[in-house]
Amino acid sequence: MKKDFLSILDVPREQAHNLVKRALWMKMNDFRSGILQGKTMILLFEKASTRTKVSFEVSINHLGGHHVFMTPADSQLGRSEPLRDTARVLSRYAQGLVVRTYGQENLEELAAHGSIPVINALSDEFHPCQVMSDLLTIYERTPRFEELKISWVGDGNNMAQSWINAAVHFPFRLTLAVPRGFEPRKDVLNRAKDLGARVHLTHDPREAVDGANYINTDVWASMGHEHEQASRARAFAGFCVNDELLKWAHSDARVLHCLPAHRGEEISEEVMEGERSIVWDQAENRLHMQKAVLEWIYKE
Ligand code: CP
Ligand code: NVA
Repeated sequence: MKKDFLSILDVPREQAHNLVKRALWMKMNDFRSGILQGKTMILLFEKASTRTKVSFEVSINHLGGHHVFMTPADSQLGRSEPLRDTARVLSRYAQGLVVRTYGQENLEELAAHGSIPVINALSDEFHPCQVMSDLLTIYERTPRFEELKISWVGDGNNMAQSWINAAVHFPFRLTLAVPRGFEPRKDVLNRAKDLGARVHLTHDPREAVDGANYINTDVWASMGHEHEQASRARAFAGFCVNDELLKWAHSDARVLHCLPAHRGEEISEEVMEGERSIVWDQAENRLHMQKAVLEWIYKE
């Protein structure tokens, strides 16, 4: 059966842990292989990307494969060819689809109608490849997840919801602080809690950061919400990860941001460029985790 990777919960718990360990080993050993030799991956992106696009292209190359990059603007998708037809056609040419899109239902439709694996390269609901590589960024510093408090400060968006899913498989405590009206989806939160995740939601950034070992944030207006930038800036006042907020954190706390960042909004210039920031390692780790994910999907 083909393996789709549409959310972190598509990966069984033990295999999710193995992905983090394997990605670290790949990083340490500058890993190359021929596992994708003769295979073509199609990158179908409906939204902009720097890290995800390039780290997938490079990792496919490091594994001996080939990629084709397409967008709606340069394909018949832009002229309303249905996704289900696109999925069936692309399955005749290639061995995998890496997709950045809007609704999660687009990924589900591609996965249901195509016969090749589909990887979520970001949707409105989830960003699983990013959060898996963020887990690597934490693991390479502090491998005992059960001792960690991880906090989320900002929008209850695709990143926040993937962190909630991660808390199902990894035993850290997760506290999310979001402004009222910007909560993550209730079904995502409730499912995680039912599955045993230690997740707590608050509207107070100080409570989320209090004693935290790792603090995550992300833009206030995700792709597709740019027109709400001004109203969101008002709603998110007080949710900037700055030196003042970090006084509440653990003395060794580190700050993550999936990037791109809006300095002066969700993160201050001082924090972004300061000694607590691990955002550049975090960006690098996208490459190593993509390789581990691709190997997980394509190994026999
Ligand atoms: N973090 C992330 O997914 O970045 P890009 O939008 O540049 O791919
Ligand atoms: N939440 C952001 C993440 C970008 C990598 C967005 O969806 O735009």
